[in-house]
Amino acid sequence: MKEVEVALLGFGTVGSGTFSLLQTNAELIENRLGVRPHVSKIYVRNPQKYTDVTLPEGTVFTDSVDDVLGDETIRIVVEVMGGTTFARECVEKALKAGKNVVTANKDLLAEAGPYLLDLASKNGVDLRYEASVLGGIPIIRTLYDSLGGNKISELVGIMNGTTNFILSKMTEDGSNYDEVLAEAQALGYAEADPTADVEGLDAARKLAILSSIAFNRRIFFEDVHVEGITKIDSTDIAFGKEFGYTIKLLGIAKETKKGLSLNVHPAFISQQHPLAAVRGSYNALYVKGNGIDDAMFYGRGAGSLPTGSSVVSDIMEVTKNEAAQATGKLTPFFYPDKNLYASGK
Ligand code: HSE
Repeated sequence: MKEVEVALLGFGTVGSGTFSLLQTNAELIENRLGVRPHVSKIYVRNPQKYTDVTLPEGTVFTDSVDDVLGDETIRIVVEVMGGTTFARECVEKALKAGKNVVTANKDLLAEAGPYLLDLASKNGVDLRYEASVLGGIPIIRTLYDSLGGNKISELVGIMNGTTNFILSKMTEDGSNYDEVLAEAQALGYAEADPTADVEGLDAARKLAILSSIAFNRRIFFEDVHVEGITKIDSTDIAFGKEFGYTIKLLGIAKETKKGLSLNVHPAFISQQHPLAAVRGSYNALYVKGNGIDDAMFYGRGAGSLPTGSSVVSDIMEVTKNEAAQATGKLTPFFYPDKNLYASGK
């Protein structure tokens, strides 16, 4: 069996979801790629914390990041630790060591994306970040590849699950802001510091990343005008309801005569608008382009397996490219294995 060696940096919500999906769907993934991405090392700060996790043979926990970054067999480093200091150090070292990197870290991307992408390019390796925005919704490659022939004029999205969860609950059953925020934290939607969610910073980082791709230019978090949901109270919600509106925290990027306008703020939208139907921790993105006219993407914006799904898709992309480089041959896009038929045989 051909394998491409992978290492995970971190084994929290996203890391464990990624690992679990790679294990559960190993056969399917290998069939699609003709090669298996194999996780040989998982870096965690304290391996003692994971004594109840049974790893398959050939996979080990290590508390030495040098053990991972210095391992020449490892071709793909998956950064799922979060934070911007140590994570950045590791990503830089991995790229300089000629390893491909997959990351789910939107803070890092929003802060240093262009620099890291330049570094990847200088070292002839890849840096992928599908999981950094909108969790399980496959949107980065969709904007870049599938919609790559469009001139995009507008993005409007619900990009933060925590605030959407809070606003939905406040609207649906009159729940109190603080109680619902605590619930969102307990469900694992909120950031370590939920200020980033409720003040709109998380959505602004995501809007910066998505807009860079959609509008084909370098856009930073600082370019986005941000207002969060902390000033919204039950009176605003009741007022909107009376006139057929619902409040959503929207990220909006639009081409204007003066350039690109980038905003995150709460907005009243008609209850008939498709974005009004996006409730709970779900995310959605409405895209307008001169080819597609418009399209909307909807799905889980956070969570272990949904975000893991996006990380796995990046690992698969890089694995495919690595295998093509190693053999000097491109594989056609996809055709099912000649032994697989409708009967399931
Ligand atoms: N805190 C984020 C959210 C998690 O609520 O959407 C996913 O980025």
